[in-house]
This record gives sequence, C-alpha cells and structure tokens, in this order.
Amino acid sequence: MDKMRVAVFASGSGTNLQAIIDAEIQTIQIVLVFTNNPKAYAIERAKNHNIPVEVIDHKNYQTREEYEKHIIEVLDPYKLDLIVLAGFMRILSPVLVRAYKNKIVNIHPALLPSFPGINSARQALEYGVKYTGVTVHFVDEGVDTGPIILQSIVEIEDKDTEESLLRKIHKVEHRIYPKAIELISSADIEVIGRRVIKKY
Ligand code: GAR
Repeated sequence: MDKMRVAVFASGSGTNLQAIIDAEIQTIQIVLVFTNNPKAYAIERAKNHNIPVEVIDHKNYQTREEYEKHIIEVLDPYKLDLIVLAGFMRILSPVLVRAYKNKIVNIHPALLPSFPGINSARQALEYGVKYTGVTVHFVDEGVDTGPIILQSIVEIEDKDTEESLLRKIHKVEHRIYPKAIELISSADIEVIGRRVIKKY
C-alpha cells in the first residue's frame, strides 16, 4: 500500500510535530508542514528534517473563508491524504473542512466533550475534575466536536498547577498522536456515525 501523504499544521512550538516525526510511522510520509505563524518554532523542526514548509499568515486575509480558499490552492499540488492539526490555533471554517472531508484530525488537551476550545488545562483545573486527558478526533464543522479516534487519561493531583498539568498532558499527547495516525494510515478503523471503530 502507498504511504499516506500527510501535512502537519502547527502554529507554535511543534512538540507534537516532533513526536510524529520521531515516531517514524512507516505508513505515512510527511510531505508538508503548514503554519499560519511566521515565528512558529515548528518551522525550524520541519527544516531540520528537510520537510517542505508553507507559511501563510492569516493576518493578511479579511475573512477565514478567503484565507482557507488560498490554503486549499496551496495544498493542491501536495496531493494530501491527511491533514494533522498539531497545535494549529485557528478554527477551521466549512470551506477547508468540506474540501478535506474526514481527512483532517486534531489533538485536543482534554477529554472531549469536556473542556473544548482554548485553555483546556486551566478549565479542567478550575472545574476541579480529578482526571482530564487527551483526545484525538476527526475534524467536523463544529469546534472540537468530531468523531473520537483515541483518548487517554491524565490524573490531576492536588499539587498540580496549569504548568505541571500541561507537562503531563503533553507527554501523553506525544505518545497517542503517532498511535492514532498509525491507526488511520493503516486503514484499521472506520467511522460509523459518531463512532470510530477498529476493523479487526
Ligand atoms: C497541544 O497541547 C495541543 O493539544 C493543543 O496545542 C498544543 C500544541 O503544542 N491544541 C489545542 O489546544 C487545539 N485546540 P505543540 O505545538 O508543542 O505541539
């Protein structure tokens, strides 16, 4: 089977991008790193591994739709099978989601449907839950609402601060994102309604 052609979208430090690169997943080829942020450290990480980079700053566009139409044009020659959002801090509009239907995945630093949106670790601490976690899901037209592929829990201890909790969450993310991508790229799962089911 041909390797899946994957683009990783990142806006910041890109530690998840690094974990995906380091996992050397045999069923994928990372053909592009895309960012909206010209200062993202993810750009350096991509360059260190000779992965092509496209930087398109959203600030130069009037609307989300206009921005995404341009992204779609730029992505076209890469012939992508999968877009992996790894700390891409822009909400996608239906323009991009429909163009890549069921081909976009995201990682979220909480156990969805709890604590969607931003600052999820802080939300979990403030709510007082004893466990939070990490969710990898397909992206649909809502915010953090798509079918869930994998989840993993993280315990919140009394001594945790937002910082220490984020460190624990990151550790788990770096383990489960490559695993989820491997599942998708080996075609071992199917989506039935909201449920993502292992085929074998
Ligand atoms: C990750 O913790 C990811 O879950 C989060 O951004 C961080 C990016 O870290 N994503 C979201 O909050 C999306 N709503 P990284 O740049 O080091 O991979």
